[in-house]
Amino acid sequence: MLGGGQQGLSAFPFVAGCSMELRKRTVVARAGTNIALVKYWGKRDQELNLPRTGSISVTLAGLETVTSITVDPALEQDHFELDGRVERGLPLGRVVRFLEIVRGLAGTPRLFARVVSRNSFPTASGLASSASGFAALACAAASAYGLDLGPAELSALARRGSGSAARSIFGGFVEMEPGVAPDGKDARAHQLLPPSEWPLRLVVAVTTEAPKEVSSTAGMALTNDTSPFYEAWVASHSVDLEEARLAIIGRDLEVLGTVMERNCLGMHACMLASRPPLLYWNETTVAVIRAVWGLRARGTPVWFTIDAGPHVKALCTPEAATRVRAALDAVPGVVRTIVAAPGEGVRVETTP
Ligand code: DP6
Repeated sequence: MLGGGQQGLSAFPFVAGCSMELRKRTVVARAGTNIALVKYWGKRDQELNLPRTGSISVTLAGLETVTSITVDPALEQDHFELDGRVERGLPLGRVVRFLEIVRGLAGTPRLFARVVSRNSFPTASGLASSASGFAALACAAASAYGLDLGPAELSALARRGSGSAARSIFGGFVEMEPGVAPDGKDARAHQLLPPSEWPLRLVVAVTTEAPKEVSSTAGMALTNDTSPFYEAWVASHSVDLEEARLAIIGRDLEVLGTVMERNCLGMHACMLASRPPLLYWNETTVAVIRAVWGLRARGTPVWFTIDAGPHVKALCTPEAATRVRAALDAVPGVVRTIVAAPGEGVRVETTP
């Protein structure tokens, strides 16, 4: 397992000295998905996938991607299999684009790979498979291609695949820095608190089996380009980050929950004001929001957040989790609920 601290201040110090022996090798890595408590929504650079703002998340236990990568001199192109299905088109393109970055750093432009990934949670569960997916792929690919990366560099690399993946490199409560460097070397995450230090629960209320219609990448570009409220949300973001960070360090769930809800609702308000409007919610989403507010009015410490989809994620204490789950299960339209605890960061399962 990788350490939780920040290491290596330069982005990719290994590049100059890296020489990869051309032999077949397989590495397996495992990463948990994460849920943002203070959101990332919008980019300052598309190509390098640099976020406009920082974000804070919790990495989840048991909701994981396990990825095996085999680099093989005999291959003439990359292959990608997800949950037993051979992927082509966009999903393959995203993986190939990422592997090209890794190959560029390793200096092995013609060494292709077979990537086999499996998610331990359903794709339409509202849990971000790109976060755990690209974190696991970054870790496995860096090792298979012989790159010697510390956690901070690995986080910056995972960001190239998906912004939220940069956070899944670390366990527990994690903060992503937007960075200021034009090359993105300082746009990476670090750990705020290990998972064992604050054993909260996240109850996910799945509100439909349908896949989402607008990807996060497309949705945030639309908001960024057209929403008149977007700059106001960005301007209010640093206060939210500061308050959430202090609440996590001080284990203050009420403050964290309050910031989490307002930051999420502000993000969705920006989406609604986009042109054309972007609404990720369905009727059940609203019913679950009301159920969370009802629980809270009756004394249960629970707050919600919603990502780029209609599912609702409720944060509460371990003691309240059974009550929260039962209440959300009882909301008409809720398909199922999943309860998760804070979990570890990315780790290699087998080394070459
Ligand atoms: C609403 O990380 O999926 O979940 O960088 O374009 O791959 P890309 O976007 P992605 O966006 C996540 C958006 C979010 C909020 C968050 O996780 O911070």
